Amino acid sequence: MIAFVAPPSPVWFFARSAGFISLVLLTISVSLGIVVSLRRRSRTWPLFVTDDLHRYATLVFFVFLGLHIVTVLLDPFTKLPLSDVLVPFLSPYRRIWMGLGILAAELALALAVSGWVRRYLGYRVFRILHYATYAILPLALVHGLATGSDTKTGWGLAVYVGCVLCVGGLIVVRLGENAPSWRPIRSPALAAGAVGIAVLILWVANGPLASDWVRASGTPESLLTPAPTPAPPSPLPTVGLAQPFVDSVTGTVATSSSTEFSASGSAQGTVALTWALHVLTTQDQSVGGTLDVKKGGALICSATVSRLTEQGFVASCTPANATGSITFLLSLQQGSSGVSGQLQVSGGSNAGG
Ligand code: HEM
Repeated sequence: MIAFVAPPSPVWFFARSAGFISLVLLTISVSLGIVVSLRRRSRTWPLFVTDDLHRYATLVFFVFLGLHIVTVLLDPFTKLPLSDVLVPFLSPYRRIWMGLGILAAELALALAVSGWVRRYLGYRVFRILHYATYAILPLALVHGLATGSDTKTGWGLAVYVGCVLCVGGLIVVRLGENAPSWRPIRSPALAAGAVGIAVLILWVANGPLASDWVRASGTPESLLTPAPTPAPPSPLPTVGLAQPFVDSVTGTVATSSSTEFSASGSAQGTVALTWALHVLTTQDQSVGGTLDVKKGGALICSATVSRLTEQGFVASCTPANATGSITFLLSLQQGSSGVSGQLQVSGGSNAGG
């Protein structure tokens, strides 16, 4: 779930893919609608096949449109509220261009509903309403070109060009039909189409493909300004040791048996330290335990005692503020008033102290 909310999230990629799939399906649906109206059929390809495909493509288009809208809503980057997605031109996020997409979606939904209640509307009203389909694709096209993040990619542009060529080509075929009712509008429609495409190309070149389009398209300033980089966490208080050095140590013994030894005390000389040793010996004479070393009351590290040599206990650790490990060699002699000896410190590269 965490992977679905960190911007830019997979949801955003999903939203964009669903947008493109919706556009392609819309193009297929509109194209098949035009093919149906052309009444082209053959013995191997009856008209009802085209008609069924047209309905099916429309249905799948709505499924992907739904996914597109839901994923846009879920995306944590734009954080669009439901009202901004339902009401055209309400969203501060690329207001106009998002608005055109919402308008296209709602128009498509209204036409689908009109299809379901066709028998109550009558065929003539339904046909007239159905011409509004021709507005959905341009609206969706301009919406995708202007809001989309992939408009500047070669494949993105190729999809848009493909959609325009497919539907545009079929409209030309449709207008080229010899139906007498088409003749008066043929030339004005072709001229309007040509002007429309020229305007579209000019707008795309100077708008969505221009370098400042992200800002010009109406992306809220809050989304453009990157969030301030969080300051690096302040370093842990440096408990440094100037190394290597040898201090003399004194201390008292708390436990001393054949299997356990613990003592604590202080070290004086180069650096004033306190130490606490607790070791256990096993039957095979191996030694394990810890040597806590503190400076000014702050723990430098809790070193792991790895062995007992003739020189003393060997322990090492890597303090949080050091780049290397520190090795301690603690040699102790037991006297009447406690222990005394030496603490050798070597290795590591932390700040001197
Ligand atoms: C017929 C209806 C629609 C179609 C065909 C459609 C198609 C598209 C396409 C092709 C893109 C470009 C994606 C990209 O460049 O990666 C896009 C982007 C977008 N659409 Fe839609 N859309 C439609 C309706 C809607 C609606 C109703 C909303 C409202 C939630 C919406 C919100 C968005 C947003 C926010 C983006 C920008 C995504 C990005 O940054 O790339 N669209 N749409």
